[in-house]
Amino acid sequence: MANTAFSQDPSNSDAVLRSRHGMVASDSPEASRIGAQILAEGGNAFDAAIATSFALAITRPESTGLGGGGFMLGYVAKANDFVILDFRETAPKAATAELFSRLHAEAGDGPSPAIYGGAAVATPALVLGLAEIHKRFASKTLNELLRPAIALSRQGFLVDRTYNNAVQDVIDDFRKHPEFQTRFALLWQTYLNNGQAPPVGTRVKPAGVTFALEQIAANGPAAFRVGDAAYACVTSAQAVGGVLAREDLENYQVRERRPLRFRYGRHEIVAMPPPSSGGIVLAETLQTLAHSPAYQQAALDSPLRTHLLLEALKHGFADRSRWHGDADFADVPFAKLTSDSYAAELAGRLSPDHVSDPESYGVAAQPDDRGTSHFCVADRDGNVVSMTETINGTYGSYVVVLPYGFVLNNQMDDFATDLGRPNLYGLRQGAANAVAPGKRPLSSMAPTIVLEEGKPVLALGASGGPRIISSVLHVLLNVIERKMPLERALTALRPHHQWQPDEVFLDRDPLVGNVGERGPEAERRLLDELKRRGHVISDKRRGAVVQAIQFTSDGEMIGGSDPRKGGKPASP
Ligand code: DON
Repeated sequence: MANTAFSQDPSNSDAVLRSRHGMVASDSPEASRIGAQILAEGGNAFDAAIATSFALAITRPESTGLGGGGFMLGYVAKANDFVILDFRETAPKAATAELFSRLHAEAGDGPSPAIYGGAAVATPALVLGLAEIHKRFASKTLNELLRPAIALSRQGFLVDRTYNNAVQDVIDDFRKHPEFQTRFALLWQTYLNNGQAPPVGTRVKPAGVTFALEQIAANGPAAFRVGDAAYACVTSAQAVGGVLAREDLENYQVRERRPLRFRYGRHEIVAMPPPSSGGIVLAETLQTLAHSPAYQQAALDSPLRTHLLLEALKHGFADRSRWHGDADFADVPFAKLTSDSYAAELAGRLSPDHVSDPESYGVAAQPDDRGTSHFCVADRDGNVVSMTETINGTYGSYVVVLPYGFVLNNQMDDFATDLGRPNLYGLRQGAANAVAPGKRPLSSMAPTIVLEEGKPVLALGASGGPRIISSVLHVLLNVIERKMPLERALTALRPHHQWQPDEVFLDRDPLVGNVGERGPEAERRLLDELKRRGHVISDKRRGAVVQAIQFTSDGEMIGGSDPRKGGKPASP
């Protein structure tokens, strides 16, 4: 296979950094800097991840924070071992499928109760997850890791284009639904600044969140299990129709999961198992491509290659819809979905010339990027953390916890709360992902580490709902197969297909400079060739945001933050 040479793109030079002393690549420059400061003070990758996460709770309240949850994939260098901690939110005990049928019937065509308000809130678990990482892997005290975020929140964080746009979009949503100003008065008055998005370059002080971080410093994670902050979550959710109860927080359990491992050519991929669909869809797609001679023989930047990649993704997403859910509750046949024999069967069903009938994808057919943040950390001892955390939609459920000022997630919408109806991300999902008390909603989050000869060569992950999976897939292939430098691998166009709706989404972003990245002529040819094979190209721009660290054979770490969100890596 011929390698294509890609030149460095100077316009993105800020988004990439090289170091031998450690690296943090997050979607927020200030949060990356705080993580790097912890590394500089002798902290390990897990210390830096915890500090970065607390900092993100301040700088990216529209994406993540104390009212959310997430997954951490870590590499412990000394033990040469991988560990996954799952602190995904769970359905509260009183959140049943019947409750959601009734709420959807009452809401009719109005705003979905799985997206807006108290019922959308699943048991928040970020703080309990960070505490578990701390207990098992940290070298510094929790107070030392909280201190920089507390200082930043007192000083105020810097408003960037991403933050300003997010606030503006939510203000527009409030204008569409005038009743929101009363229903979600706290969000309107605080984050939305009564309808005036804070200008880029100004500083915002999230007073209440400082208080919440101080509670953790004073009382440890108990603040979020049995303490005042936990009860404030409960009363704030219940005040707007939620069913979150004290016992949901008291009984929450962080789970350790066994990483999903599979091979792609010379590389081994370490990926996220259920309750995420991320790893299985990645495995199914990559293994299908590995078994497709047409894909393996196609020129690296040919339209045929993109077509086959989209077709393989459609199988992965069709199976996601049919089979995936929290494996503690549903029977997820992941041995079959990730098997070589199944990948070979799917590869045999890929036509180089045309898309197939939508019902023919996967084992058996059946009937956007804001609320998430991904970051990677590496230290000089070889430890690596790839962590994705989320409140789901932009500003989650719009419910702000009084008096702490953080936002509660709307992760209930990641369940199939109304079978057959697409969720916030247009995903149609099946009975395996129906609501049940204590169950974790199916995720697409895909913290991933790629190995070559047993050693990490790339850590990556993304935000962007189902586009997380395709963007991890594209960047991974851009690096290991197309041999692009990381800055190009991150900015290149990432065509996405999730089986339903039956459309290809592009993530063209003039500010990223990926419009016509292969040249306008090559891009027109790509789209013409995709259309000729039967793909429908959506004119809606739908993207994702990837953060990554690449490890070179001579010991260098290259950190990359996707310029689509304005992040920046930092090193000690
Ligand atoms: O877990 C999931 O798949 C979703 N809650 C992720 C949502 C997301 O990435 C939003 N965009 N940034």
